Amino acid sequence: MCVGFGGAALESFAPDHFRAAAELLAARHRRDLASEPSLSPSFGDPDTCGSLLVQAWEEGARGAVALEGNTVVGYLLARSGDGLRGRHCWTQPQDAACSLGAGPVIMQQLYAHLSGQWLVDGCLHHYTVTPASDLSLWLMLGFAHEQVHAIMALSGTARPTVPPPGVRSARPEDIDALEPLLGLVNAAHAAPPVFAFTDQPMWDILRSGHLELLGDPTVAYWVSENPDGIDGFTVMRPVPDDEASLMKPRGSVELLLAASAPQARGRGVGRRLAEHAWADAVSRGFRTCVTDWRAANPLSSVFWPRRGFRPHAYRLHRILDPRLLTPEHVPGLPPESGTSGRR
Ligand SMILES: CC(C)(COP(=O)(O)OP(=O)(O)OC[C@H]1O[C@@H](n2cnc3c(N)ncnc32)[C@H](O)[C@@H]1OP(=O)(O)O)[C@@H](O)C(=O)NCCC(=O)NCCS
Repeated sequence: MCVGFGGAALESFAPDHFRAAAELLAARHRRDLASEPSLSPSFGDPDTCGSLLVQAWEEGARGAVALEGNTVVGYLLARSGDGLRGRHCWTQPQDAACSLGAGPVIMQQLYAHLSGQWLVDGCLHHYTVTPASDLSLWLMLGFAHEQVHAIMALSGTARPTVPPPGVRSARPEDIDALEPLLGLVNAAHAAPPVFAFTDQPMWDILRSGHLELLGDPTVAYWVSENPDGIDGFTVMRPVPDDEASLMKPRGSVELLLAASAPQARGRGVGRRLAEHAWADAVSRGFRTCVTDWRAANPLSSVFWPRRGFRPHAYRLHRILDPRLLTPEHVPGLPPESGTSGRR
């Protein structure tokens, strides 16, 4: 055990902490539910949250807890990884929570306690997915928005009789006509101001991925047509039970993909497709729709909230300066020495 900079005692997270951490997580989710009632109520139960933490542990999430006396007032876990996102640490929504009264300093202490080792391990990229209620804790640690997760109750949506003119369900035979549109989402993400790294395999899988969606009977793949051909698509997929989470309620439907041809934008194609897709989802018994988009995407970050999606969680990213790993970087004396360091 060690004493953190702000006074709470910190120790490594261990299975002994599952119950206390689950209580914190469930309490946070009950607060999130009060502001976003479409989220799943089941995670307000500490037993359900306890299962999430056991699973996180089994998946390799490790970290620390903060204690005031014998009471756990916060915890932070991360899973390390390598690959498309570089060497990174990832904190899922169930991997961090703190008590309402603990204040931002607890998360700062936990992050300070763990992240030095992450840097030593070469993890320059730190990711977290946080509910909106904890957003400020992470922004104060230097994280920035990458993805917005949003939700919408479909209860007010009218059931359709027939699709509006020009909108129809797509079939696998439409793949060639869809071809010019398949890369539009990738292109929007790769372009400024999003600048998402997009490698060749992400382009290569587009055709097979869309064919799979077109052939899946549980997926609703809607296209819009004009006399020149297909000018937009919207894809709705039921959230599989094993993907139900703090962010995606069991039994919800996900708006997975949508794009309009550049020359058709701003003419109501996206809106007609989305409104029909929701009405159809209601007629199939769905009550909640989830989606997510790149925070810096100027088109989707205006379009989806205007359609009624309410942001409730964010994926955040912090990238440390790569020079921290070079001999040029001089960390100075540790804080316990009483010297404040260079910065
Ligand atoms: C986001 C996207 C799908 C929106 O599609 P779109 O076809 O341009 O959307 P629409 O034309 O329906 O709506 C855009 C706005 O134009 C308005 N509009 C303009 N002319 C219109 C018309 N003749 N009829 C109806 N609406 C019209 C809409 O009302 C809407 O405004 P609002 O949001 O204030 O209501 C599209 O910009 C796109 O493909 N972006 C690139 C790919 C992408 O980023 N996809 C999302 C990934 S998450």
